[in-house]
Amino acid sequence: MRQDIASVLLTEAEIKKRVAELGVQISQDYAGKDLVAICILKGALHFMADLTREIDIPLAIDFMAISSYGAGTKTSGEVRILQDLDAAIADRHVLIVEDIVDSGLTLKYLVDNLGSRRPASLRIVTLLDKPARRAVTISPDYNGFEIPDEFVVGYGLDFDEKYRNLPFIGVLKPEIYEK
Ligand code: IMP
Ligand code: MG
Repeated sequence: MRQDIASVLLTEAEIKKRVAELGVQISQDYAGKDLVAICILKGALHFMADLTREIDIPLAIDFMAISSYGAGTKTSGEVRILQDLDAAIADRHVLIVEDIVDSGLTLKYLVDNLGSRRPASLRIVTLLDKPARRAVTISPDYNGFEIPDEFVVGYGLDFDEKYRNLPFIGVLKPEIYEK
């Protein structure tokens, strides 16, 4: 698996440090509020697990599974809900937890969809932001790292469902997805 990685972009230690910082900030911003953190499956799984453990206030967690990719490295632009939330979010403070904002199409869809359910507030935290490829005007409220326009895997991010279990974020060798 590791031989398919061209370079390590973010080490385990760098991710851990930044996730802890985000946790402190979110704990301050949401103190006293009814917070629901929504993990966007599957990519945000690892980030969600680590981030919520760095948030020091009560919160609920919920999951939503969506798909916009197939096996390619670019979004199809067509977002589908594969699994919806368990609970209603009306009048609650909702934080969408995402792995990466690339074109922004997935997030735009989620913001429109969840926004129509009348939450008290709706914000986005993403581990990674690739602003170079943005196709719609949308920006995360909290961002772990801004990264260059390269296809990355690990820490939840996949190529063709693989590499999610790498503990770091790495750039995939182009020959893997150009095959
Ligand atoms: P967007 O709709 O183009 O912003 O794409 C968002 C989704 O595409 C993310 O939630 C990821 O699942 C996936 N994605 C975008 N860039 C990458 C990447 O570099 N590696 C792996 N998945 C990615
Ligand atoms: Mg994904």
